[in-house]
Amino acid sequence: MPTLFDPIRLGAIEAPNRILMAPLTRGRATRAHVPTPLMADYYAQRASAGLIISEATGISRQGLGWPYAPGLWSDEQVAAWRPVTHAVHRADGRIIAQLWHMGRIVHSSLGGGQPVSASATTAPGNAHTYDGRQPFELARPLRLDEIPGLLDDYRRAARHAMDAGFDGVQIHAANGYLIDQFLRNNSNFRDDAYGGPVQNRIRLLREVTSTVADAVGADRTAVRLSPNGDTQGVNDSDPDALFGAAAEALSAIGIAFLELREPGFEGTFGKAEREPVAPTIRAAFKGPLVLNSDYTDVSGQAALNSGVCDAIAFGRPFLANPDLPHRFRSHLPLNKDDPKTWYSQGPEGYVDYPKAAA
Ligand SMILES: Cc1cc2nc3c(=O)[nH]c(=O)nc-3n(C[C@H](O)[C@H](O)[C@H](O)COP(=O)(O)O)c2cc1C
Repeated sequence: MPTLFDPIRLGAIEAPNRILMAPLTRGRATRAHVPTPLMADYYAQRASAGLIISEATGISRQGLGWPYAPGLWSDEQVAAWRPVTHAVHRADGRIIAQLWHMGRIVHSSLGGGQPVSASATTAPGNAHTYDGRQPFELARPLRLDEIPGLLDDYRRAARHAMDAGFDGVQIHAANGYLIDQFLRNNSNFRDDAYGGPVQNRIRLLREVTSTVADAVGADRTAVRLSPNGDTQGVNDSDPDALFGAAAEALSAIGIAFLELREPGFEGTFGKAEREPVAPTIRAAFKGPLVLNSDYTDVSGQAALNSGVCDAIAFGRPFLANPDLPHRFRSHLPLNKDDPKTWYSQGPEGYVDYPKAAA
């Protein structure tokens, strides 16, 4: 059985260990969604991860509704990402860009128009805006004639990621954002080729993934799913059937790896409503499978031992412990993350978490 400290090949990427950094939105870009030099320091500090998955990064203005989150649609953004990826590489690390379209979670004050989704629905709760939290707005269904343009946005963002020096990309198909709104049947009421039966609801995921894989290589394309419960009001009545089929389709495309965010019943960042779908997905997906949510070094190693996955992605532990693999290996205590500074601007709670003594 592999240990967390053993290397793993993830498509074209050789990860020196199986302790991956999960994608973490941190809100340290500019108001125009351009990366900042501080982000280079933050990611370089965490370069000992087997692989860094970047914070979710907007593929288009329409798709980005998070204040001070970065994008990848403009040349200015590409140029500003370069020092970030170079800093990670200089520190012997690897980093892929998580590509994000938030769908109905985007407030019009950021997206520039009525939000889009699979169907005319409104997410529960409040959107993040530059004027504080505001109620989510009714989304309009994406028209069939808009889907080619959406795929173009993914293609451009993926190419931009490679231009910016990333080692690959991860398609964010989890957590109740646009692709997840198409996947699950409490937010997708379409009666065209993108709605109804499972094979229709996975169509957008398949098309986005094929488009991105054609642009940058399937071996540099990863996908994230969150199959086992409600996220931002999105849920499904038969996740085994849906996500089993999605995993099969992604397997056929030959992506580099699949990552699942599956909290447990007592999860501290979302809670499960049912047992993990991971075993179903494991059987359907032939590539490396990465699991996430509430793992420790002990429970992560136990998951590897059980054979249900090949690597673990750590979110909050990496946020607060830039040297997480070293701490795990040496059994050192962990810093605790401070939620007050998760999304705040500036260096506090971002680049000032201490490393352990060597
Ligand atoms: C501050 C913060 C920001 C997050 N941002 C993202 C994100 O940009 N993309 C994403 O897919 N998940 C995001 N997540 C979810 C994490 O990737 C991860 O699934 C979650 O923290 C559970 O893993 P953990 O228990 O190891 O922290 C975020 C979580 C936190 C706490």
